[in-house]
Parts: sequence; C-alpha cells; structure tokens
Amino acid sequence: MTTKAKASESQTIEAGNLVSVQRPIRHDSAAKHVSGEAIYIDDMNEPVGTLHVVPGWDRNTVCGRLISLDLDAVRATPGVVAVITADDVPGTNDCSSAAGDDPVMAKEEISFFGQVVFAVVATTREIASKAARKAVFDVEAYQPLLTQEDAAANDSMVLPDYQFRRGDPEAGLAGADRKLDGTFRIGGQEHFYLEGQVAFAMPQEDLGMQVYSSTQHPTEIQHTVAKVLGVPDALVNAEVRRMGGGFGGKESQANQWAALAAIAARVTAKPCKLRLDRDDDMIMTGKRHDFRVNWQVGFGANGLIRATDIAFQARCGYSADLSLGVNDRTMFHADSSYFYPDAVIRSRRLKTNTCSNTAFRGFGGPQGMITAEKMVECIAISLGEDALTIRKRNFYTEERNVTPYGMPVEEHEVLHDIVAQLEASSDYWVRREKVRDFNKHNAVLKKGLALTPVKFGISFTLKHLNQAGALVHLYTDGSVQLNHGGTEMGQGLYTKVAQIVSEELGVNLDKIRITATDTSKVPNTAPTAASSGTDLNGMAAKIAARTIKDRLIAHLAEQHDCPPEAIFFRDDKVVVADETFSMAQIAREAHMARIQLSDAGYYATPMITWDRESTTGRPFFYFAYGAACSEVTIDTMTGEMIVNRVDLLHDVGHSLNPAIDIGQIEGGFVQGMGWLTTEELVWDEKGRLRTHAPSTYKIPTASDIPDDFRVRLYEGKGNPQDTVYRSKAVGEPPVMLANAVFCAIHDAVANVAPGFIPDLNAPATPEEILRAVRLMRDQAHRAAETAVKPPVKAPVDPEGAPA
Ligand code: MTE
Ligand code: HPA
Ligand code: MOS
Repeated sequence: MTTKAKASESQTIEAGNLVSVQRPIRHDSAAKHVSGEAIYIDDMNEPVGTLHVVPGWDRNTVCGRLISLDLDAVRATPGVVAVITADDVPGTNDCSSAAGDDPVMAKEEISFFGQVVFAVVATTREIASKAARKAVFDVEAYQPLLTQEDAAANDSMVLPDYQFRRGDPEAGLAGADRKLDGTFRIGGQEHFYLEGQVAFAMPQEDLGMQVYSSTQHPTEIQHTVAKVLGVPDALVNAEVRRMGGGFGGKESQANQWAALAAIAARVTAKPCKLRLDRDDDMIMTGKRHDFRVNWQVGFGANGLIRATDIAFQARCGYSADLSLGVNDRTMFHADSSYFYPDAVIRSRRLKTNTCSNTAFRGFGGPQGMITAEKMVECIAISLGEDALTIRKRNFYTEERNVTPYGMPVEEHEVLHDIVAQLEASSDYWVRREKVRDFNKHNAVLKKGLALTPVKFGISFTLKHLNQAGALVHLYTDGSVQLNHGGTEMGQGLYTKVAQIVSEELGVNLDKIRITATDTSKVPNTAPTAASSGTDLNGMAAKIAARTIKDRLIAHLAEQHDCPPEAIFFRDDKVVVADETFSMAQIAREAHMARIQLSDAGYYATPMITWDRESTTGRPFFYFAYGAACSEVTIDTMTGEMIVNRVDLLHDVGHSLNPAIDIGQIEGGFVQGMGWLTTEELVWDEKGRLRTHAPSTYKIPTASDIPDDFRVRLYEGKGNPQDTVYRSKAVGEPPVMLANAVFCAIHDAVANVAPGFIPDLNAPATPEEILRAVRLMRDQAHRAAETAVKPPVKAPVDPEGAPA
C-alpha cells in the first residue's frame, strides 16, 4: 500500500534547515490586492434584501443638550425602512472597550462635532445618506472645551493623572550644571486606512447575529454586539478575512459601526451593511492623541543628563477609549534610549469636546520618544556639540541600564551596535561636514542632519491581552486549514503564521489554507495590536502544529519500530528512518488509526509582571531596536522641506520574512514621516474638524518618498528571548525611525541662527518651519541690536548669518 522511496531520495530532505520561515515569501494576498480580487467587506455578495445604514448627526452642534429631535422627514423619505435612535437599542447603549462612556447613539447630550445621534436604514446607501440630512435638531449649546489648555484649566479628565518617579528629580534639576526647559506641541494623526470603517450584520435564528467587521479586534466586536443586542456572547459571531489597513484605528473604534449594523439588522430582520463615508469616518472616529508637553532637563557640561521632569498633557477627546494604555505607553517611551538618573514623568489625560482619540501605530510611544529627541537636540545646541555625540553619551549602558519604570535594558549593546553601524554606513561625520559647508554657503536654503535611535517595548501593557489561540486542522489529503486569533490588515500576519505552520508540519505553503479570523473558531482573543500579532498567534499556531506532529511521530515510531528522532517532516513528505512517505499517506493512515489530526494551540507571553498600581515589575517581554539617519533641506523663505536621504537600520531579530519586514519598516517610517511633517489636523475655533478629506489632509504620497532611501535589516544574534524562531515584532517600531526627519528639520532650523534654540513643534509643516525660522531670525536680530551674544558660543558665519 505504501510506496517506499529510495534511501537516497530521503537524504535530500535534510533535517535542521529552515525551509519556510526566514524567507522573503510574498504576502499571500499580494496578487489579489493588485488585481482587485481580494474580498473586503464591501465586496461581499449582498444577500437579497440587504439594507444600508447611514449614521445621522447634527452638523450645527459641537456639544450641548439635545432638547428634541424631529425625524419625521427622515422617516417619510421613500426607500427608508427604519430610523433608529438610542431608544431602539435592545440591550445597553454603549460601544466602549471598558469604561462604559461611548454611547452607540447619543441620547440626551451631544459631546463632540460628529457624534452619532440616530441611524437611517434604507434600501440604498444614497437614500439613507440623503434622508439622514433631513433631521431637525433642537439643541441647547454648551461652551465646548477644545484644547489641552481649556481642559487643564477646568480639570476636565477622562482618567486620573498618573506618574513614574525615580530618585529626586527636583534636587537633580536644582543641582545640575545646566538646565533647559520648554513647551513642545505634538500633533495628532488621522489613520487614513484605505478601507474605511465598515460592518455587515446578518440576523440568524434564535436572536443570533453574524457580523462581518473590518476590525482588529473580532472578540470585542462580538462582545459589543452581544451587549447592545442584550444577548449572550455565544449568540454572536464576528468574522474578518482582512482589513484594508487598521493602523490602530480599528482596535476599538470598529465597535460602533458593527453595533449600529447589528441593531439595524435586529430591528428590520434583514442583513444590514454600514460603510462610513470618508468624510464622516474622518470626522467621527478618533485619531492619534495630540499632546502638549512641558519639559525640563538638568545636565552636565558634557551633556550627560542628570534629571528630567516631563509633563505630558494629552487631548483624549470626549471619552476614555484606549487612552489609559496609550498614555501609559507615552510615559514608557519618554526615555527614548537615554538613561535618566532622576526623573519624574507625569501624564494628564484630558477630556475635551472632540472625537475620542485612540490607538495609532506606536500607541502613544512616538509622542514620548519625540519629546526625548527634541530635548536632546536642545541640549546639543546649547552646548555647541553634535546631537549624535550627546545621544550616544546618554545611551543605556551596562551600569546605567534601568528605565525610569524599573525595567532593565538588557540589550543595550544592540542599541550601541546598530547606531555604530548606521553611523558608519550613512557616512554620518563626512556628511555632517558637508552639511556644515552647505549651510556656510547658502543663506536661503539650509540643510539638517540627524541620526536617532529607536527602542520600543514589545507586549501589551495590559497583561491579560498577552495571550493567543490557534486552530490547525490537518486533513486526510495532507492539506491544512489554519485559523488563529490574529487579524490581517496588510501587515502580513497571515503569511507569517502560515510560514510557521508550514515549517513546523513540513507541509508546503500551497497546501495551507489560511482562513478568516472568526470568534467561533478561536475565542476570547486579544486585539491584533501592540505589534504582537506574530509573537502571539505565530507561537500558538506553532504549538498546535507541533502537537499534531508529535501525535504523528508517536504513532509512526510505534508502527515502524523506530526512534522518534528518525522521523521528520519536510516538503509534504514524512521521512521515517530510511523510508519516505507523502504527508497525505501519513495523514490518511493516522486517521484510520484514530489519531487526532486537529489541535487548538494556546500561548501566553512569559515574564510579564507589570503592576500599574505600584509602578513596579516588567511591562515588556523585550525591546525592538533601530536607528535612522535623515538629511533634509529647508527653504527659509517658504518653509518648504525635502528629505534628501534616509538610511534605516532596524532590528527584527531573525526575520521570519525579510520581504514583509522591509515593507513594514518602509511603510512605518513613511507613516511616521507623514505624522511629523505634512499631516495636520485642524479644528476651527468652534470645534469642527476642517481637515476631513484628502483635499485638506495631506498624507505622504509616492513623491514624498526620499530620493535616496536605504533600508537594511540589522543582522544580530536574534531575539535573546524565546520568541517564534527568535524573531522580533516589527509592526510599530519603524514609525519612530521618522524621528530622524523631525530632528533633521530641527537641525536645519537651528542652522538659521547658530546658538539659538528653535521653537519647532510637530508636525513640521512648511508653515511651522517658516514660523520657527522667523523666530530664530527675530532672536538673532534682537541679540545683535542689544549686542547680546547668543546664549552659547557657536560658530557664527557671515554668509550663514540671518538675512
Ligand atoms: N501594516 C499595514 N500594512 N496595515 C496596518 O494597518 N498596522 C500597524 C502594523 N503594520 C498596520 C500595519 C499596527 S498599528 C500594528 S499594532 C501592527 O501592524 C499589528 O500587526 P502585527 O502585530 O501582526 O504586527
Ligand atoms: N498596545 C496596543 N494596544 C493596546 C495596548 C498596547 O500596549 N494595550 C491595550 N491595547
Ligand atoms: Mo497598533 S496602534 O497597536 O493597533
């Protein structure tokens, strides 16, 4: 019955070499993304009778008390099937992750411009959309709190203040040789996922609900839909095959749209789809938190930091959403890669009448890190030293290796090595001279150069989220179905996990069917977030595959009377001592022998002990590292800026898939660059978002990619922690490589009047660059008039002097 292979053939299948992981395998949907065959929720065939839901809101109100709402004209519109309000919610009118402060539809009070008050269900989306505008609102307007200043002055907070403190920062600041302080503003960021928020709900028998949602967190969609419908979780099923991007914007904020679609489906007993209009999406959903930061740093004449006091004020919007975790992560990254002997890091989570800010790639970390980099740029200017020198002097080392929150930086040598390698490969010091020379000979154009580090903590800082499950089925023809709790948003998670299962089971990738994430297959999942998708789900899938393989090995060892070590799996074949069988044969025979060919793997990240209350323990399993060098040119007459060259060196441990990892690094960097340079959110004085379309909100395009863009993976010893094939998470850390672009612009502005410190905020748009340049010139003129020297001795050049 079995075909015996020759011994020589079996020997070509070697044990020990990796065949599927650590290879540049293309994204499983790459071709489909390009051809348009990849199915997103709005591409799904609609069942007969499908209705369309459009949310309704008051375009004249920022916040106020809802006195009355007249929906007669909406209801009377031909094609409108139902109009739903808070009173129609069968269960609880809340779609928040935890805090209970996010109504699906506002009832008595409108809290921000764009808050949903009702929803129209109609035969087409166009009809629903037009009808929704016919609502008549009577609102008693309140004075909105819009800015950090407004909220702080009114002690308006979504969550209590929080801080980390080490040593005696007050004494450290008082006793330091030098001291600098400032206020730094950091802008928010719109996610601009290509696929907007969308959900499709299909009623099932016995009050069940099947929901397709573009979400990073299917389990929370399940819970939210169950909660708003007032049914047990077990009656609801959430499924997502892929998102057209999430970037954090679908970690919690897909909930509301799934809830509305499900309520509409319950009320009408028809399949109901809600796909947000792009403008509505930008107006209604939360963004990256914008910050105001008051910082103080004390340091020595050598630039060594003695003490810091950093006070973060985040605009959280009208509800808590994920602001606790986001702001904690800001604090965890306020050190960047620098040792602060004495430090206090403070955080206020301010409540404003604006959309509720949420997760965005980096989850608060970028805002913490850019503050540290801004601080270091200022130290360097004040000492007349190169910023890279000051950076390296303050890096974590063997002796100085504990973060302000008490976690040791175990891989500080990786940080040093990456920076040293990039310093050499980017030709930093030669180019520094060239930049200096250029600036000497150009009064209008100024160049800037910066090399900045990245150290990003990997793990959810909410401990219980660090777990995952996977479901692997081996069928009797040797093919495999793979499912896990992670979601695919373009980052390549499905491909990586398939590679891992392929490696473990010795089944070729084309035999593995990747299936949609589904709460009925793998329950109680964490969101796909915190860059941990592969670490968690890859490990769970590996464990499941390993369990199936172990069962087969035990069976085969007994059948063939050979030691387990003589059995291995490779290329859809199984080698048993000197015989080779096809995987299909082995699976079929094992099934006949009643061996279970399916398994549910489970993984929980070890070593995480963070206790938020006492601010002790270890929040992260490990850190991911990287470094970036950017050179920019600014036009001091117009504020325009171009990025001339970028060199990135990034640590992904042993890469599971170098093609996907490079893509994540390039994409993350460009997204970070957009945040820090061109993407500006503008609310008018009344609190209305004015930048709610690509016409007014500028994300990077192909033409913004640096002409000279060099991206490399760091080749080190792999992750010292026991992660899947010693890889490291890659999703978010590269965003912070873009700090080098901001610092290079800061450097260019500093070169307008050497010795003076620029007042440059993020994003460094042309307007902001121009403002900072003018302030530099004003400072220099004033100093010249009063014959006061610059605050520090700096090389003043006649040609480079202020125009
Ligand atoms: N890459 C693409 N193409 N699209 C995305 O939406 N999201 C980022 C990152 N890379 C995102 C992406 C964010 S915010 C996170 S947390 C991670 O991917 C999540 O996936 P991972 O944990 O599998 O890396
Ligand atoms: N990162 C991303 N998402 C999260 C986190 C985090 O640390 N904690 C809770 N949700
Ligand atoms: Mo990413 S911000 O953790 O979804």
